[in-house]
Amino acid sequence: MRIGTLGNGLMAEALAGQWVKAGHDVIIGGRDPQRAAAVAKRVGGTAGSPTEAASYGEVVLLAVPAEVAVEVARLVPPGRTLIDCTNALDHRDFTLAQPATAEAINRAVPGVQVVKAFNLAAETVWQNPPTGLGVPICGDGPLDLVAELVRDLGCVPVAAGGLVRAKLLEATAALAIGIWVGGGDVRGMFPPLAEAFGSVPPGQS
Ligand SMILES: NC(=O)c1ccc[n+]([C@@H]2O[C@H](COP(=O)([O-])OP(=O)(O)OC[C@H]3O[C@@H](n4cnc5c(N)ncnc54)[C@H](OP(=O)(O)O)[C@@H]3O)[C@@H](O)[C@H]2O)c1
Repeated sequence: MRIGTLGNGLMAEALAGQWVKAGHDVIIGGRDPQRAAAVAKRVGGTAGSPTEAASYGEVVLLAVPAEVAVEVARLVPPGRTLIDCTNALDHRDFTLAQPATAEAINRAVPGVQVVKAFNLAAETVWQNPPTGLGVPICGDGPLDLVAELVRDLGCVPVAAGGLVRAKLLEATAALAIGIWVGGGDVRGMFPPLAEAFGSVPPGQS
């Protein structure tokens, strides 16, 4: 698959590194050619401008601060899949600084399939993803390409609903980060399915 990244920061490097290892062709798109080149060299990809990366990718990872996400997403041409991993976190109280970023991006890029994914875990997790980690995905239409990129990490795609539910993933990230920063164990909040519901989850009998 051809993948472009918008951004050459921590998330772009961690995820692109995994996707290169899985055999994909990646252009790291950065506004500073030297920073983009350094990241591309580390992950085994190619460096380009944000415009070049957006045009190249069948799938484009948007990995920039949420406050510029809509503006930067406008570089993505119609017909592509855009993965939005941004979190508009307000670090003062771990709430959201802006609501429904993925839906705002979607309104700005007609003809682009916007998918929210990879925003729930830290970049350190994506550097070395635990096998079997569930990765929720919210988006409209077929999610096969993004599901494949999740599986390439050794993780499990979790269909979490349409793009209208992406705002819930954004809120979940803010909640989880706030708990984690406060010293809580986010993972401990969710028991395994069988323990929670018996052997058959509701709706799957
Ligand atoms: N870090 C995590 O653990 C984590 C986890 C989940 C989700 N996220 C989300 O993922 C997104 C990226 O996070 P990150 O940790 O990778 O951030 P980062 O390391 O700070 O990288 C941000 C990238 O965005 C670029 N950028 C900033 N402003 C830009 C603009 N106006 N136009 C174009 N590019 C711009 C930066 O370019 P320069 O290098 O030129 O400054 C940099 O490449 C954020 O929305 C964050 O909330 C992060």
